[in-house]
Amino acid sequence: MTIQAGMTGANAPDTIPDIEALAVATHDEIGRQRFCSALRRHAIQDMAGTLEHDFRERVARPAEAKGMHFDDWRMIDRAMEGEASYRFYSSVRYNAQEMCFLSVQPQVERALPAMIEVARDAAALSPAGGSLRLDPALAPPRYVDALDVHLMPGCFHSEYAEDDVAQGAVASLGSRVFTANQSHRSWGGVAKVISRWLKTDHPGFAPRRMLDIGTSSGKNLLPYAEAFPGVEAHGVDVSAPLLRYGHALAEHEGVALHFSQQNAEALDYPDGHFDLIVSSFFFHEIPVKAARRVLAECRRLLAPGGMIVHQELPSSHLVDAYEDYFWNWDTLNNNEPAYTAWRAEDHRALCIEAGFDPAATFALILPDTGAFPARGTAFAWDEPGRPMHGRGGWYVFGSKI
Ligand SMILES: C[S@@+](CC[C@H](N)C(=O)[O-])C[C@H]1O[C@@H](n2cnc3c(N)ncnc32)[C@H](O)[C@@H]1O
Repeated sequence: MTIQAGMTGANAPDTIPDIEALAVATHDEIGRQRFCSALRRHAIQDMAGTLEHDFRERVARPAEAKGMHFDDWRMIDRAMEGEASYRFYSSVRYNAQEMCFLSVQPQVERALPAMIEVARDAAALSPAGGSLRLDPALAPPRYVDALDVHLMPGCFHSEYAEDDVAQGAVASLGSRVFTANQSHRSWGGVAKVISRWLKTDHPGFAPRRMLDIGTSSGKNLLPYAEAFPGVEAHGVDVSAPLLRYGHALAEHEGVALHFSQQNAEALDYPDGHFDLIVSSFFFHEIPVKAARRVLAECRRLLAPGGMIVHQELPSSHLVDAYEDYFWNWDTLNNNEPAYTAWRAEDHRALCIEAGFDPAATFALILPDTGAFPARGTAFAWDEPGRPMHGRGGWYVFGSKI
């Protein structure tokens, strides 16, 4: 049954089914997905460790003995490009990445009509009190529709059917394979880390209205609604299938989230509308000139006393040459062409350029709640044992007014 807007009483359910549970994988598909998870973990952890060891011991040590110093990631890139350790690691990593998303497509295709119906019902009823505002006239920016970002076939925005949610499902389920099968509910680690830090470091701070930029399906928006009860939680993204899917998930969870299809470079909210603006895994996927416009929008939209906290990849100047080299793999191999240019920027300087107070602008590594449960405050850059971004820590930058 498709529920019509305004349907009430006995005809209208007060809960929305779990859209994600509709895409059931077969036995063989589960086997393939487990293989993809294991292969990716092997590439990103075991093989990455071997690669670093090979570089430091076999390539760098003899070269340094002759007076050569690898103090720039490009030098390391050039030295490793033809090495078997790099070529094998890179090939396995590339294919594992792509296969994570490919491996969920069959189950999404089978369940698609039912999933679309659930998302339509969620949009018509919003029993949890959230909302979905779509703009069919909005064209995705070139940096979204020109290539399949991080090798997800169809990227974020593609639509194959009316009211399509397929890319929402592929992104969500594919990311479960990518992260070794964490459910949508168990995600949101970055949001949990940032909200814990906000509560520890800024105990008086209680946002009334917040915005998550590039929210996708809101997995890093939902935990804020729980961490700050009563906050009016908004998420924007250019990609309608992700927003439809995220809205259906949130309504199923009984959490009121307000999703809107907009380009974050020019948002339609009034000045000073939010007192917390966040993002996660967003800025490195857009060109630096677009990032400048988004940060200017953040400044315009922030109310006095408000904060911006963006989780990202650490700036080049904050890491050593090898870590820099390791992160920049995605630029050429993972369809993320803005990655190196974004990381080359000083993100605090970009905030200041957007009008934020230099004294209030920060860049930190926040401890992951799973890896450091007892530690809510940030790590210093020179602190012994500081975890790398993504390995027990999350890099964030931001400011307040
Ligand atoms: C890697 S995903 C972000 C994931 C999400 N924040 C999370 O934590 O799971 C990047 C998202 O940004 C969206 N996006 C890219 N450019 C955008 C823009 N100019 N305005 C709004 N959303 C954008 C994409 O559609 C995509 O959903």
